[in-house]
Amino acid sequence: MRIAAIADFHCRVNSTIAPLLDGVQDQADLLLLAGDLTDTGLPAEMAVLLNELKQLSLPILAILGNHDHENDHSDELCTMLADTGIMVLEGNVVEVQGIGFLGAKGFCGGFDDKLVQPFGERAIKDFIRIGIDESVRLENSVAKLQTPKKVAVLHYSPVKQTLEGESPELFPFLGSSRLASALDRHGVDVIVHGHAHHGSPEGRTAGGIPVYNVCRFVQQRCCNRPYLVFQV
Ligand SMILES: [Fe+2]
Ligand SMILES: [Fe+2]
Repeated sequence: MRIAAIADFHCRVNSTIAPLLDGVQDQADLLLLAGDLTDTGLPAEMAVLLNELKQLSLPILAILGNHDHENDHSDELCTMLADTGIMVLEGNVVEVQGIGFLGAKGFCGGFDDKLVQPFGERAIKDFIRIGIDESVRLENSVAKLQTPKKVAVLHYSPVKQTLEGESPELFPFLGSSRLASALDRHGVDVIVHGHAHHGSPEGRTAGGIPVYNVCRFVQQRCCNRPYLVFQV
């Protein structure tokens, strides 16, 4: 299967998204959207995006990003996606042509020996708990899939290599290696994520899973096209 993946449309009410997906239907059998679909999480922004996406006839799978949560309409945005025929992977799993897909937004937390721990003030514990819960949700999802091939879609990064180019001070707010650990424990074939607009296109988890930053700005810089196409 040829899979196209893109993140960070940041669609506004006056945006035009179609040119970003130019040629995608000829080059891929399925499209993944890795969050920040809208700029400020407004249903009006999502309506503009969906009006453009409904011109495409290939299957589309999506997760939300942090920007899609900005105005507390995430449930409504998920309903709008589903009503347009777009499969939402927020903790769900989907099988398409024998390939399993799972996804979650993910969250902050930091990486490797700099992973922030749930210690001390209640506020820090609550903050880190959100990231741990996202990792558990991801792990529960991957455990449900029996397909020989599995693809994980995140918004936050599971590794720091794909953040190279961002300020190191921001790394703990751009992802967490807890996400990678959850996926390494069960094994998936590919992980895609967005969110790190100034990051790098490619990395690998400690367990060897390839990770692609499919943020449209990253892909445009590295590969002169706003989306990535890969084979599974
Ligand atoms: Fe973004
Ligand atoms: Fe983001």
